[in-house]
Amino acid sequence: MRRKIVAGNWKMNNDLNQSMSLIDSVIENSAGITNCELYLSPSFPFLRDSKIKCEHTNIKVLAQNVSHLEKGALTGDVSCDMLKSININSVIIGHSERRTIFKENDDILLKKIELCVKNNFEIFLCIGEDLESRNSNKEFSVIEDQLNNTIFNLNDINPKKLIIAYEPVWAIGTGLSANPSQAQEMHNFIREKFKVKFSESISDNLTIIYGGSVKPETAKDIFDQPDVDGGLIGGASLKHSDFIKIVKSIT
Ligand code: PGA
Repeated sequence: MRRKIVAGNWKMNNDLNQSMSLIDSVIENSAGITNCELYLSPSFPFLRDSKIKCEHTNIKVLAQNVSHLEKGALTGDVSCDMLKSININSVIIGHSERRTIFKENDDILLKKIELCVKNNFEIFLCIGEDLESRNSNKEFSVIEDQLNNTIFNLNDINPKKLIIAYEPVWAIGTGLSANPSQAQEMHNFIREKFKVKFSESISDNLTIIYGGSVKPETAKDIFDQPDVDGGLIGGASLKHSDFIKIVKSIT
């Protein structure tokens, strides 16, 4: 059975107190949830406190990024070893904000993936096309290129340590969500590509989550699609009641 996952990506929101109290609220309201695995992704300075708070709960803590190099003169970067030293071993790689604002290209992302694999980390790899590509019917080739240039350079993958997050860039933070059939179509395409590249069993066991303006009102229809295994939630994860409603939409 494929893992079902809902992850809250807080991005650059919430100071220490806000982060701690949001985690408290999510813990309080998610006790007993067994329909999916829950992840929260606070900012770097609060990862350690978050991790400690989530001990003995059903919530896992996810870093929003990691460096492409092991160590050295990289002002502002955070390494796999640093994350490991605070017991964080799950990271988001290739979020579209990293790709566009911070100019992280596929070469950099592949280095991050390779380092994460070396460190036995769990990877949430984000892929997604921009509006121009979708409007010119290039969405499938963009996704294929992003896979070919990154994860498909590996000879083998462990589908229990990889989550693909399909996040159309035009739907992130815009209020415009892909409709359920657009999400299903792309998730199915991605799953097929993994089958061809690796194997049927890897493809069947791969968790592919959707991200991009998921709201409590829209989550169920998207999550009900056969190839959608959960969501990466930005804006709506900042309010615990919305986040929990989204989590409960998974069946
Ligand atoms: P959004 O963000 O839900 O605010 O659109 C999703 C994401 O960027 O992961």
